[in-house]
Amino acid sequence: MKTYIVGNWKLNFTVGEASIYLHKLLKTLPNYRDIEVVVAPSTIALQPLSLQVDRHKIKLSAQNGFYRDYGAFTGEVSFSQLRGIVDYSIIGHSERRNILGEDDKMIAKKVAAAIRNRITPILCIGETESERAFGETADVIRDQLTGGLSEVSDDDIDKVIIAYEPVWAISSTKAAKMATPDEIAEVVKLIRKNLKDIYGAKVAEEVPVLFGGSVKPSNAGAYLTVPGVNGLLIGGASLILSEFTDIIETAKRVSS
Ligand code: 13P
Repeated sequence: MKTYIVGNWKLNFTVGEASIYLHKLLKTLPNYRDIEVVVAPSTIALQPLSLQVDRHKIKLSAQNGFYRDYGAFTGEVSFSQLRGIVDYSIIGHSERRNILGEDDKMIAKKVAAAIRNRITPILCIGETESERAFGETADVIRDQLTGGLSEVSDDDIDKVIIAYEPVWAISSTKAAKMATPDEIAEVVKLIRKNLKDIYGAKVAEEVPVLFGGSVKPSNAGAYLTVPGVNGLLIGGASLILSEFTDIIETAKRVSS
């Protein structure tokens, strides 16, 4: 299986800055066939970057999209509009769940809309600090996974990527608030067990599961060698070109 290295730029970079970053990344990055390098810029930068990117080396991802293809939905951008511009879309990121109020029902519709428009959804799930403290992690993971995948048929599950992002480990600078490989392994096992219960054993093994939450060049190797982890979803460190390319190099080393 490929290793996925996905940079989520969140609300950072102007279109010009994004274009310069992409230019530099394209220049320094070899064409690694077994590493899928993906960047997720702001929606406004996607169209110009799609004309600039070399898709053999780097793929584009949206950070979100709307579940209806067209209509009276002021301010939204649909997956049908993103079709052909991006190969992936992050869906259900905890910042959208917790700040923008997205729930599993809406997320499920977005996952289905992405698939309908030939865009691979990267479905984000993960527990908050208090949910973990109250011992609710397994329930949250099951609910978000089954909720987010509720409109995905047996035929389409191979078009989905899952990202485990414990909310408490996002944007952390403290070692105590970073996930340990053991903690990640335990939840990834749970994710694959849930996938097995819904879609069967083969799917449970084959759906890519990524980890995200304060990934840095210093911990990328340890996270990439957690059993069942097929890649990384990176926020802050993906904004710094040297850190992002370091992580890609680490993925190359670990996977070969
Ligand atoms: P950080 O890598 O900045 O913790 O962000 C993680 C994340 O939310 C990626 O989607």
